[in-house]
Amino acid sequence: MSDQKKLFVKTYGCQMNVYDSERMVEALGTKGYVTTDTAEDADMVLLNTCHIREKASEKLYSDLGRLRKLKAVRPDLKVGVAGCVAQAEGAEILRRSPVVDLVVGPQSYHRLPEMVEAKGRVIDTEFPPEDKFDHLPERRALRGPAAFLTVQEGCDKFCAFCVVPYTRGAEVSRPAERLMAEARDLVARGVRDITLLGQNVNAYHGSGADGDWTLARLIREMAQIDGLARIRYTTSHPNDMDGDLIAAHGDVPALMPYLHLPVQSGSDRILKAMNRKHTADAYLRLIERIRAARPDILFSSDFIVGFPGESDADFEATLALIREVRFGAAYSFRYSARPGTPAAEKPGVDAAIADARLQELQALVTAQQRAAQEAMVGREVTVLYEKPGRIAGQMVGKSDHLHAVHVTDPSGRIGDLVRVRITGAMTNSLAASVVTTPAPMTKTFAD
Ligand code: SAH
Ligand code: SF4
Ligand code: F3S
Repeated sequence: MSDQKKLFVKTYGCQMNVYDSERMVEALGTKGYVTTDTAEDADMVLLNTCHIREKASEKLYSDLGRLRKLKAVRPDLKVGVAGCVAQAEGAEILRRSPVVDLVVGPQSYHRLPEMVEAKGRVIDTEFPPEDKFDHLPERRALRGPAAFLTVQEGCDKFCAFCVVPYTRGAEVSRPAERLMAEARDLVARGVRDITLLGQNVNAYHGSGADGDWTLARLIREMAQIDGLARIRYTTSHPNDMDGDLIAAHGDVPALMPYLHLPVQSGSDRILKAMNRKHTADAYLRLIERIRAARPDILFSSDFIVGFPGESDADFEATLALIREVRFGAAYSFRYSARPGTPAAEKPGVDAAIADARLQELQALVTAQQRAAQEAMVGREVTVLYEKPGRIAGQMVGKSDHLHAVHVTDPSGRIGDLVRVRITGAMTNSLAASVVTTPAPMTKTFAD
């Protein structure tokens, strides 16, 4: 096709950005864009950015530096900046970087098709009155049998360190029936594992024909979709884990036994300064209640070390909480002061101390992660094949507990759900062999 143009998309940040990138690709597809794997042969480069920590947002400017050289030899190259840095810095990006042609925020990317055809440099960082999801083309860019589905956006929590309430705006839930339709459509095209996404996903309260739906209701209804084997959701706030959602972990078999539940700190003093609105003890009791509903569940969390005012005793309290919970995985970050957030006005902890704490915390959670993986050895688990392994005759997929598993299975196909026995634990994945052959599939992931 002569009017086909090549689009290179680079995505930073959270899973919501991954979902948004897929939808932007679909939107630009209406203008003849198809994706390519390198910036060098692209007609347009779109950077979907993250503003969460200083390092994340600096990546934009190093990328733009490289693109400037590319554009010097190919002046027709279009460069777009999307995502949370686009929202936070807006027109400043156009001023700082002549290489950028368009800037689009996370709430207005459905307008991309018009923006790419506009003459001159354009910017749209509005929170428009229309719902972008109503103006996007149908889902197309499926990457495998596991898919993301954004159900809720934005956040009203205003943790003192966090830019999300500013970059993504107020909490908005998508209407329940639309999500059911999108989920059915994904399943009809071979998806068997859906992760419901939201910056504050368990605060979901979408309108349905018979009133407001909670996340628990949405999960229960989606679990009825024939062919949908697995449901997950992320990211949750401890204060929004209601009784029905906890119960769902016990009585909805499709709801997977893995939950990302960020706590940030184990010190009540720091939690208060962070405006988290819960104590360490409340978090521990919550973990207990969820474990009572689903005893084999694995938890993961986010931690920030070196938040302003964090003392040795505060940090010890965080380590104590980690020891008590025994996490299956954890993500930890050195505190990064973000412009415009309340915490940014306070002096941070000495960098060397914060780094030492981060290392100590990471050593502890890495040991817990390894223990959780080793506990799987010898067990029979279910794996959803997502891609062939590097070694011939091997398939790679995720277990119910979200472990990456390498399975020896020469007849395995992408999209198969297979019972396997775990034979070994490697650093970041598990090895396994097939226990039973999979039942013939009615739908395969193809198209
Ligand atoms: N909505 C989610 C995710 C927010 S961003 C939640 O509430 O958990 C993902 C993680 O980045 C946060 O959980 C937090 O641990 C980390 N983070 C956010 N702002 C940060 C900052 N200013 N410095 C360091 N880490 C930060
Ligand atoms: Fe940020 Fe807190 Fe909202 Fe999570 S709950 S997105 S950390 S403000
Ligand atoms: Fe980053 Fe925005 Fe996600 S700041 S973590 S891309 S919501």
